[in-house]
Amino acid sequence: MTFVSTKLSQKFSTPLIIGNITLKSRVLQSPLSGVTDLVFRRLVRRYAPDSMLYTEMVSAADLHYRSALSKLMEIDRLETPISIQLFDCRPDFLAEAAQKAVFEGADTVDINMGCPVNKITKKGGGSSLLRQPELAALIVRSVVEAVDIPVTVKTRIGWDDHEITILDFAKRMEDAGAKMITVHARTRSQGYTGNAKWDWIRKVKEVLTIPVIANGDIFSVENAIACLEQTGADGVMCSRGTLGYPFLVGQVDHFLKTGEYLPKPTAIECLQVAKEHLQGLWDYKGIRGIRQSRKHMTWYAKGFVGAAALRDRLCRIESVQDGMDCLDRAIEHIESNKDVFAVINPEDMAEMIAMKQ
Ligand SMILES: Cc1cc2nc3c(=O)[nH]c(=O)nc-3n(C[C@H](O)[C@H](O)[C@H](O)COP(=O)(O)O)c2cc1C
Repeated sequence: MTFVSTKLSQKFSTPLIIGNITLKSRVLQSPLSGVTDLVFRRLVRRYAPDSMLYTEMVSAADLHYRSALSKLMEIDRLETPISIQLFDCRPDFLAEAAQKAVFEGADTVDINMGCPVNKITKKGGGSSLLRQPELAALIVRSVVEAVDIPVTVKTRIGWDDHEITILDFAKRMEDAGAKMITVHARTRSQGYTGNAKWDWIRKVKEVLTIPVIANGDIFSVENAIACLEQTGADGVMCSRGTLGYPFLVGQVDHFLKTGEYLPKPTAIECLQVAKEHLQGLWDYKGIRGIRQSRKHMTWYAKGFVGAAALRDRLCRIESVQDGMDCLDRAIEHIESNKDVFAVINPEDMAEMIAMKQ
């Protein structure tokens, strides 16, 4: 059982101010490439009406060289508050892309300075900007000049254990005009392994005046409270904990605001949401959506007798009907099976995801 201290509950009952915008929630849904598309975000939004959501990261170079707006940055007017996340290392490309993000309806534009993937870092984007703080600051200044909406940065604590540069880096981002910084408390070389080093977030919080959002290893309400107590951060961002579990951001937000747990969804409720997710991906992306849905479907299928067999089947679905049939059969199986674990535990989910990587 977790309790919210008076100090924390007072802070979380006040809005989060990012430059000229005000958010009613201090719990955010992270950008996740290959995951946080319009379909997934609609599900998160249903349970977390006030939280900032993020698109998947969008290449500023792609936006520059192709005239059509990327589908990745397509947003729905009902989604607000929503941030479009961009990546590249060229200040002019990013400034131009940020203007397109404004046109699309973004409430903020976020610059990705944390992606560890070689394909991105080799071209100077993502976490490699941690090694080029002057260029990173120039990027922020250029984007700030180009748009009227707040510009924010999401980054890591450093390149590796020998190069933890976040304190100087974060200060430079603030001085350049960033209105909020999200710190994923891992180094680039950690990827997604090992523990997030929340202590560094506390140190960042001590040196900045703009809001600092804590990110890394938030898989449950308890993790979120522990992180916020330890770091003093202004908000918390949920990430892998939301894979197959679009309820998490809303659950954390509700607990922080009320001190009460929302009831955890039953396995059947999770599979019903999986069905909506599948249908949404089919409607939005057609057969490509079905291929993308396979990983999502396996993330939902967890915590009941027969889940492993269901996952095995779901990762091979070929059509929306195929997936719906599998999910319907699983729902019937659970309804008629007394040995069911009625509640999905997000930490089990995290373990499963970690095993997959
Ligand atoms: C599949 C996947 C895709 C991701 N895509 C992005 C992205 O597009 N932009 C970004 O800033 N971070 C991205 N991240 C990093 C997450 O937003 C987050 O910082 C990281 O997972 C740490 O939080 P966690 O330990 O709670 O998962 C991604 C992570 C994963 C696992």
